[in-house]
Amino acid sequence: MVFTVKDMTFKAGQELTISGKPKSGCNLFSINIGHDPDNIALHFNPRFNYGSDNNIIVCNSNRGGWGEELKEHCFPFDKSESFKVVVSFNNEQFYIKLPNGTMMSFPNRFGDDSFKHIDVQGDVKVQGLKIK
Ligand code: GAL
Repeated sequence: MVFTVKDMTFKAGQELTISGKPKSGCNLFSINIGHDPDNIALHFNPRFNYGSDNNIIVCNSNRGGWGEELKEHCFPFDKSESFKVVVSFNNEQFYIKLPNGTMMSFPNRFGDDSFKHIDVQGDVKVQGLKIK
């Protein structure tokens, strides 16, 4: 399932809050922020179970191919339990507040201060999304 946000621009200094619920059999889901589906500055990818990855968050960017992955072992997600993730950024870093309040960051490799593409994919139900 792909949930694509229409007509919203996410700008540096703003906060994007996404709430959702992983499905009961969730293997993985991702939140993607960029310019279009092929130019993703932040791919935020909680993996319950994917290949050899169990309960790990993988972040990456994609511009003509995937970049170097960053792996976060803090994994405050549970299947069938609602979560909230808050993302903000500047032209150097993305800051992601995980559901337990832990902060993680990922470099803004594009260096851009505005992104108009946001999507959520995988085994998850999006319950709310706001930018302010
Ligand atoms: C790949 C996976 C992609 C993406 C990427 C991130 O293995 O197929 O969907 O998650 O890793 O580096």
